[in-house]
Amino acid sequence: MVEKLKKEAWGSKLGVILAVAGSAVGLGNFLRFPVQAANNGGGAFMIPYFISLLLIGIPMMWIEWAIGRYGGVHGHTTAPGMFNRLWNNRLGKYLGVIGVFGPLVIFIYYIYIESWLLSYSFYSLSGVLTDMPDRESMAKFLSAYQGLESNAYFHSLVPAYLFFFITLGLNFFIIFRGVTKGIEKLCKFAMPMLFLAAFVLLIRVVTLDAPYPDKPDWNILNGFGYLWNPDFSALLDAKTWLAAAGQIFFTLSVGIGVILTYASYLRKGDDIALSGLTAASTNEFAEVILGGSIIIPLAFAFFGPDAMREVAASGAFNLGFVTMPFIFSKISLGALFSFLWFFLLFLAGLTSSISLIEPAVAFIRDDFQIERRKSAMIVGGVAFILCQPAIFFLGHGVLDELDFWGGTFCLVLFGTIESILFAWTFGIDRAWNEIHRGAQLHIPRVYKWIIKYITPAFLLVILGTWIMQQGWSTMIMENVKAEDMPYVLCTRIGLLILFLVLAILVHIWHKKFYQEEGK
Ligand code: ALA
Repeated sequence: MVEKLKKEAWGSKLGVILAVAGSAVGLGNFLRFPVQAANNGGGAFMIPYFISLLLIGIPMMWIEWAIGRYGGVHGHTTAPGMFNRLWNNRLGKYLGVIGVFGPLVIFIYYIYIESWLLSYSFYSLSGVLTDMPDRESMAKFLSAYQGLESNAYFHSLVPAYLFFFITLGLNFFIIFRGVTKGIEKLCKFAMPMLFLAAFVLLIRVVTLDAPYPDKPDWNILNGFGYLWNPDFSALLDAKTWLAAAGQIFFTLSVGIGVILTYASYLRKGDDIALSGLTAASTNEFAEVILGGSIIIPLAFAFFGPDAMREVAASGAFNLGFVTMPFIFSKISLGALFSFLWFFLLFLAGLTSSISLIEPAVAFIRDDFQIERRKSAMIVGGVAFILCQPAIFFLGHGVLDELDFWGGTFCLVLFGTIESILFAWTFGIDRAWNEIHRGAQLHIPRVYKWIIKYITPAFLLVILGTWIMQQGWSTMIMENVKAEDMPYVLCTRIGLLILFLVLAILVHIWHKKFYQEEGK
């Protein structure tokens, strides 16, 4: 019999809450949320948003913490082993593959974007960004950096590749050091720093006078009004509800598989009810209060309502990477604020990306009994190779394809499977007891009913509506440009191969390591 590696565990309760909150607080809070809200009814967006938070987000948080801790107690740190335990059916473990595949796919593009944030922090401090004469130059800078064109700013991908390499190395250095010395230590340092940077930026934003004396209406207060004044007619559009539910998934990091792994490092009697709620609340504070108060009000004050609409419609990246540095170049100490902005986003990205890669490492470590350092190196090498298409073929729809499968489809599908397995297969009474084991908070009983009926039903409706409205056309590649087709197709085939390889590994694990040991 193989001697089992020692189970890894968190060092403190604060550590695990900050790690889960760190996974949740990411680019979604500061870039995605304000743009989604501005484009989907402003203040009215908060109605489906909070309904989704209460009926999907928070229940899913508890479900994942509970499945994760339960799995961990039985020696499983990732979804295949956990689902195999929840559902005594050979299919369970294969459905669990999504919980390792999904986060790995998100990781391979998320890490590249994260590396842009590191480089933009550097270019902010060196004064390059705040020297840009206009927004067009900023856009040219970004596209040359990404290798989409060659101009006076960059002639090759070398700088981008260098920052990518540093970012990937940093991620794996943290993962290499393990749960307490790596992940927990980083989150205990990064989370307070991130909040501090966000507060400093927030204070700068709210104390900013209208930038143009001849346009007094272009001010921060009206910027808040632009974002928060409700347009209730948006509530009649299914798109608004889908956007709100999608945002809740993305921002809380639920439906991905990462919380399962983080929660598996808990001990049997550790609280999950209060800890899960605290991590979710920390994320919501960072999203609604901090994320909702920085970019939109600033961009409104500098560009006014009409251009603002255009900027918001052009997407979160444009707003974050092109518009923000330009705005900072117009205020005093701009280089410093620009650095704070990008470094804040970098830290938010880093604490999320390590959580995205951890399930793959945990899968190799715990299911194949390969010690952490070796597992981290194996996964690091594989991830490095998988990242290449996103870097070199960025302009050919590869990133969108990865985001569709990893960041959208798998998320909703996996969340739906988890909620059904937990509430129905495992059984709601056992599930409810599991959530309450060691609980430092008594969850209102109505949630037993919500977890059993409302959350899975709501998820099935979302999955169905979403497949009909957007998912199907993406699946059949309706909107892919003809010249991008070969790249998108190759990405899709690559993803299929990756999924199959993981499924084969799960098969081997089950036959060799699970059954042989008589589990
Ligand atoms: N939850 C992470 C974010 O918001 C993925 O970016």
